[in-house]
Amino acid sequence: MKSILVMNGPNLNMLGQREPGLYGHSTLADVEQLCRDTGELLGVVVECFQSNHEGELIEALHKAGRAVKEGKMIGVVFNAGAYTHTSIALYDAIKAAEVPVIELHISNVHARESFRHHSYLSPVAEGVIVGFGIEGYALAINGLVTKMGSK
Ligand code: DQA
Repeated sequence: MKSILVMNGPNLNMLGQREPGLYGHSTLADVEQLCRDTGELLGVVVECFQSNHEGELIEALHKAGRAVKEGKMIGVVFNAGAYTHTSIALYDAIKAAEVPVIELHISNVHARESFRHHSYLSPVAEGVIVGFGIEGYALAINGLVTKMGSK
């Protein structure tokens, strides 16, 4: 059975407590359970990883790229948090690892501060899911399986 990595970046370990008006009341553990349940329905294994450190996220992308090349992994659903708007290093890592990524944001970043309107990841993402709350993770997993399955 192939796998998908669901990766969450900085401050997403605070889900449930962090600005619930924007991000909802579900915790990261709830999100990860939703992702595993979605994977089960689709016949893929969902692995979950969260880090507040850019370098760890980069290394996880490199590792995911190797797993994709070995035919073990489909790709990554990635909520990079604020690194989305700042990190050329994550853009480079996605390109270097040649790993299919679905970029995801719980909130509608385009309806928020202008500094959230630009994403370094969108140009190297297979697709982008924005503003569907935590349900976006299920949509992103479905989208990744559908899109990469048809390639
Ligand atoms: C976020 C949006 C980002 O702008 C923000 O920095 C986050 C969360 C989202 O899921 O809506 O940390 O990625």
